[in-house]
Amino acid sequence: NWSMDDFIDQQIEKIRETVGDKKVLLGLSGGVDSSVVGVLLHKAIGTQLTSIFVDHGLLRKNEADQVMDSLKGKFGLNIIKVDAQKRFLDKLAGVTDPEKKRKIIGNEFIQVFNDEATKLKGIDFLAQGTLYTDVIESGTSTAQTIKSHHNVGGLPEDMQFKLIEPLRTLFKDEVRELGEKLGMPHDLVWRQPFPGPGLGIRVIGEVTEEKLQIVRDSDWVLRDEIAKNGLDEKIWQYFTVLPGIRSVGVMGDGRTYDYTIGIRAVTSIDGMTADFAQIPWDVLQKISVRIVNEVGHVNRVVYDITSKPPATIEWE
Ligand code: XMP
Repeated sequence: NWSMDDFIDQQIEKIRETVGDKKVLLGLSGGVDSSVVGVLLHKAIGTQLTSIFVDHGLLRKNEADQVMDSLKGKFGLNIIKVDAQKRFLDKLAGVTDPEKKRKIIGNEFIQVFNDEATKLKGIDFLAQGTLYTDVIESGTSTAQTIKSHHNVGGLPEDMQFKLIEPLRTLFKDEVRELGEKLGMPHDLVWRQPFPGPGLGIRVIGEVTEEKLQIVRDSDWVLRDEIAKNGLDEKIWQYFTVLPGIRSVGVMGDGRTYDYTIGIRAVTSIDGMTADFAQIPWDVLQKISVRIVNEVGHVNRVVYDITSKPPATIEWE
């Protein structure tokens, strides 16, 4: 007889009991899990919750604004937004190895979060969007064993918080259901998976502001066309990548020598295996024309037709 309404009531009661009149800190990533935790906690303890949202500059177009408009604007959460784009770009300068990029982004994320958290006084609890699958994967659930790319970890010794993890008995689809029950916008709750390192691993090789702009703008066109053609709930994950190669093209009377954009779109159950999505040709054509016309420095668009395995979903 388990129902989501009962779950919400029970969790709110439990959170209030645990927290009392103390304060709670939450790291918002813009993803589904931490957003749902934020809305649930806000419902339970209101202004006793403070959230930190680190904008690392590797988010999709308009994403940071959407998170702020929705969670701060509509739901009234108290959110400290940290504009850390420059810090991340500086750290990533000259780095081309995918795993090094991941490490740098993960570490910097923790650094920025800690810098902000240290400024706040009198916080006793740290809330996290740990799911049941994270609990199984890590065996136990102390702050140390939680994967740094998903969740905030590695806080300094002198900043020990007690953890609050209200989603730790739920699977992903249940978190989405919970989000809908809490009145969160459908497109936020049903958002496609987005990796912690964000666009940083979709610019292949060195990440620069110019390349981020190209991948961000082309991703925007792709998402727009996928949505307009009613494919957004049929395709598990879809995005563009910038491999960094240039090729020759022709535009008007002149030759161009510009970047290639790769489109990646897959169907999958859990991301462990995947097939390339069979997007209709006419939709692909529209996407290709729009990307070349609307995104600067792109003269060629290719479609990734490999499955996982042998390829991975991301290119890095
Ligand atoms: P791959 O590329 O390994 O991706 O087939 C499987 C799923 O995981 C996501 N992914 C990541 N998520 N941090 C994350 O939080 C990462 O470093 C990372 N790398 C891949 C990917 O987007 C896909 O959904």
